[in-house]
Amino acid sequence: MRLLVTAGPTREHLDPVRFLSNRSTGKMGFALAQCAAVRGHTVTLLAGPVALPTPPGVQRVDVVSARDLLFAVEANLDACDALVMCAAVADWRPKQASAAKLKKRDMSPSLALEPNPDILATIRSRKGGRIFVGFAAETGDPRPEGRRKLADKGLDLLVANDVSQPDAGFAADTNRVTLIPRNGAEETLPLLSKLEVAERIVAWVEKTARAQTH
Ligand code: CTP
Repeated sequence: MRLLVTAGPTREHLDPVRFLSNRSTGKMGFALAQCAAVRGHTVTLLAGPVALPTPPGVQRVDVVSARDLLFAVEANLDACDALVMCAAVADWRPKQASAAKLKKRDMSPSLALEPNPDILATIRSRKGGRIFVGFAAETGDPRPEGRRKLADKGLDLLVANDVSQPDAGFAADTNRVTLIPRNGAEETLPLLSKLEVAERIVAWVEKTARAQTH
């Protein structure tokens, strides 16, 4: 299969030295790309700013902002069979970005923001027979919001995790997730390494693709 994986945070610059972002390190998305490549799939990895090496055999494209990521997803969508949206996309960006560093005296204590595009919502009409997987990072029980996002974003699988626990979510090497499929029963996995979680997700994608062709 051909997998398109997004990973890491996006950065929304206010000026060349300041930005809005989030705590994503890219580990889960890179584990997905690595695992899919090891299992023989063709993998394109769209990566926000992260400090991780490219997994062997993976084609990587670096992006910075949510809009960069949207353009890269749109450019690579036709050539994929499955899209795994693991990136933690910033929902807002500064209304005005300055090409030169802003001076303190020229800044105000409030920052005007405007919404970024929702990537999954934007490309939804181009889904066709592709498998779409999304993630939801929540504080507290992630399942109710996970179910809502699965339906709202028209996904085949939503991977929900509680990022308020130190052994799961941002920067950890382990994760505790619930797989919420559009069809079928939810499955809460035990604490696993991110590579093991990635293997479960890639195996789910493979199984779903096989079921579609039969
Ligand atoms: N996502 C996206 N475009 C965005 C924001 C999120 O495609 N602008 C994707 C993420 O990659 C993820 C899924 O949507 O697969 C859910 O992301 P999340 O940030 O949890 O969803 P939001 O709709 O932004 O909801 P919230 O209000 O919880 O931030």
